[in-house]
Amino acid sequence: MKLKPIPVLEIKQLSIAFDSDHGPQQAVDRVSFELHQGECLGIVGESGCGKSVTTMAIARLLPQPSGKITSGEIRMHGEDILNISPKRLSKLRGQKIGVIFQEPINALNPLQSIGHQIAESLLLHQGMTSAKAYKRCIELLRLVRIPDAETRMKDYPHQLSGGMRQRVMIAIAIACRPDLIIADEPTTALDVTVQQQILELLRKLRLEMGSSSILITHDLGVIAQNCDRVLVMYAGRIVESAPVAELFANPLHAYTRALLDSMPSDKHEPKSTLPTIPGQVADLSELVEGCRFCQRMGREGDCLTQRPNWIEVSPEHGLENCPICNLSSAINP
Ligand SMILES: Nc1ncnc2c1ncn2[C@@H]1O[C@H](COP(=O)(O)OP(=O)(O)O)[C@@H](O)[C@H]1O
Ligand SMILES: [Mg+2]
Repeated sequence: MKLKPIPVLEIKQLSIAFDSDHGPQQAVDRVSFELHQGECLGIVGESGCGKSVTTMAIARLLPQPSGKITSGEIRMHGEDILNISPKRLSKLRGQKIGVIFQEPINALNPLQSIGHQIAESLLLHQGMTSAKAYKRCIELLRLVRIPDAETRMKDYPHQLSGGMRQRVMIAIAIACRPDLIIADEPTTALDVTVQQQILELLRKLRLEMGSSSILITHDLGVIAQNCDRVLVMYAGRIVESAPVAELFANPLHAYTRALLDSMPSDKHEPKSTLPTIPGQVADLSELVEGCRFCQRMGREGDCLTQRPNWIEVSPEHGLENCPICNLSSAINP
C-alpha cells in the first residue's frame, strides 16, 4: 500500500477570535484544510471573510494581544506548531515560512536600506557571513528582477516604486528558501501590468524552489491563472473547496456562484454593470450558527440555526451543503 505523503500544512478545526468590549468575537470558525508539496492553494472571498486572519495564524502573527486561536490544530510537516518553543517558532518563521503582505510599505522598515533588511534574515537564520549575505542579496534582487541590484541595495523603501517595494518584500520572503510562501493580496496595490509581472515571478519561484504557496485574493481571475486548488471563504468559514478547473466548471455553493457571476467575463456585455452580491458580510457579533449566506440573503428558517453539513461530491470537491442555498444546484435538485 502506498503511504500518503505528510502534507506541508495541515489545519484542523481552526477557530480564531478577537477580544472586544462585548466579549470574544469569532473571526474564523472551525476551518480545516491541507496544503501539499509544490501546490498553490488559493483562498478567495470578499473582504472581511477571514482570509488574512487564517493565514496570519499559520505564521503565528495574529494581532496581539486581542487575536487568539481558540481551538484547532496547525501542523507543518506533521509538527504541531501551536505548541512549540519560542526559539523553534522564530526558526520556523525565519526559515520555513515566507510571508508577503498586502502593503509592503507597512512591512518594510523605513529607516533601513533594503539590502540591510534582506541580509538581516540571512545573517540571523542562515548564519551566513556578511560577505556571503551580500552576494546572496544581490542574487535575490536579481531573482525578483530588480535592475541594477548593487546600487539598489543601498536604497531606502521610500525611494522605490510600489512594484519595486513589493519585489523587495518577495526577496525577503524567499531569502531562506521557505517551504511555504504565504502571499496575501500581493498585487492589490499595484497596476495591472506590474500585477501580472509579480504573479508570474511568484509562479516561477514556486517552480524553481519547489515550495508550496497560499495565495489570498478577492479576485477569482487571479486564482484561475495561478492556483491548483481553491478554498472559498465566507464569513469565517470555508464554504467550498475544489481543484481550480472543477470550481469554475462546476461551482456548487450559492456564494461561489455569486462570486463567479460578479466576475467580468464574455457572458457580460461590454460596459454593462457586473452583478454584485446583494448585502454585505454580517458583522462578527451578528453572525448566526447556521448558513451565513442565507443570513445575508435575508432568508429565514431552520437553516439559520444549524451549521450546514460538509459534503464531498468527489474526493477533492466539497462544500457546506445548505439545502436552501443550494436549492437550484446539481446536488439538491
Ligand atoms: N486586529 C483585529 N481586531 C479585531 N478584529 C479584527 C482584527 N483583524 C481582523 N479582524 C476581523 O476579523 C475578520 C476577518 O478579517 P480578515 O481576515 O482581515 O478578512 P479578509 O482578509 O478576508 O478581508 C473581520 O471581521 C475583521 O474585522
Ligand atoms: Mg485580508
